[in-house]
Amino acid sequence: MPKVTAQGKTFECSSGANLREVLLKNGVDLYNGQAQLINCHGFGTCGTCAVRVVGAVSESSWKENTRRALPPHKSTADLRLACQTQVLGDVSVTKFDGFWGQGSQVVWKPEG
Ligand code: FES
Repeated sequence: MPKVTAQGKTFECSSGANLREVLLKNGVDLYNGQAQLINCHGFGTCGTCAVRVVGAVSESSWKENTRRALPPHKSTADLRLACQTQVLGDVSVTKFDGFWGQGSQVVWKPEG
């Protein structure tokens, strides 16, 4: 089973699991600040679940590419929308600051 490491925790999930659901289920603070309350609940439209993911995950879909091309995100940033990402192997996840997680300061890293 794939291992996901985020915010100092490592947990397993099934291959193909939705990264947003896996992170939330395991108590990871996926959203920054008010985005915990104001988000699209996984529909791929708000952009607040953005994270950096290193490891084996699904390709970005047209829907995700479209949202990540809209400000304040930039299509050139190496972020993924957790709600649109399937875990396919071991992954490490990093969250950045800003309402959408679009910032340059690390909020939490894989190891904590
Ligand atoms: S939760 Fe809104 S885009 Fe992922």
